[in-house]
Amino acid sequence: MTAVDARRARREGRGATGREPATRLPAPRGPVTATLFDRLTRPPDDSPIPLDVTGAELGDDDFQLALFVCYELHYQGFDDVDERWEWAPPLLAARMELERRFEETLAAAVPRPPLDGPVEVRRALRELTADDDGPSLSAFLSRRAGLEQFREFVIHRSIYHLKEADPHTWAIPRLRGRPKAALVEIQADEYGGGRAERMHSELFRATMRGLGLDDSYGAHLGRVPGITLAISNAMSLFGLHRRLRGALIGHLAALEMTSSLPNRRYAIGLRRLGGDDTAALFYDEHVQADAVHEQIACHDLCENFAAEHPWLAGDVLYGAACALRLERLWAEYVLGRWDAGLTSLRHP
Ligand SMILES: [Fe+2]
Ligand SMILES: [Fe+2]
Repeated sequence: MTAVDARRARREGRGATGREPATRLPAPRGPVTATLFDRLTRPPDDSPIPLDVTGAELGDDDFQLALFVCYELHYQGFDDVDERWEWAPPLLAARMELERRFEETLAAAVPRPPLDGPVEVRRALRELTADDDGPSLSAFLSRRAGLEQFREFVIHRSIYHLKEADPHTWAIPRLRGRPKAALVEIQADEYGGGRAERMHSELFRATMRGLGLDDSYGAHLGRVPGITLAISNAMSLFGLHRRLRGALIGHLAALEMTSSLPNRRYAIGLRRLGGDDTAALFYDEHVQADAVHEQIACHDLCENFAAEHPWLAGDVLYGAACALRLERLWAEYVLGRWDAGLTSLRHP
């Protein structure tokens, strides 16, 4: 690639690697993904896809990967999956079974937070996010993590950050008035305000390259455990069902309201491990941007939405609680593995 090509590639958001490499289905992890992937690698037809997920746990690898792959058909898709599968009735029926189980496991893991009334949404969101006293992965990463642990952390995060903002964008056509304007204001920042190289997903790719990691979309899907996939699956579940739009915006608010301090710590940790300003820019950017997004999400988006849709106010809090709970379960998993001297990733 010449210097001119490299500059053009950066402007167009293709990173340093030029043409995007193919994104292919990962290896199956059990009977559910084996059945699903076998069908997805053939042309769509009308016969049912029988998936048994009765009793699957929230962080189950096989179950979460199957759901993630179903959702991914609505994002960038896979080069070895026919695009017509996205809306093929057997796929949608199978996805519905997976979602039914996912909603059950989420409901069992996340008590619905109490709410005095829709006018209390802003206060309740503040209490919920302030109460979050899970293990501090960000404190560990800032002070003690080794380079390999930081790289593992970035690999887990790549599942969401390489499509950062996309799941919450599903809410835009489902809102109107002030909440819609508020969400668009946040998302415009997430997408770089019209500059491809400033898109948060692109800033994250620079972080990955700075750590010597493959920054291509989907490159690490096969290496992350079910609990990492559950974090992204919750956003897609809320995003792809209009009935869950309250939970989706609450989920976004929780992310924005718990972002500034951890990102400051990630930047400190990355620089301690030798990362330069380009690699740390993703985290630096979020310290600033999310201090603003927090206000917009909590007040302009969620409070106004709850006032206009009081019957969905409880869902706003539930979505926030799901975000916090999944984040905590994931942090416990990662730190637990590291405490035991093990990798937090799956072996390829
Ligand atoms: Fe962001
Ligand atoms: Fe943000």
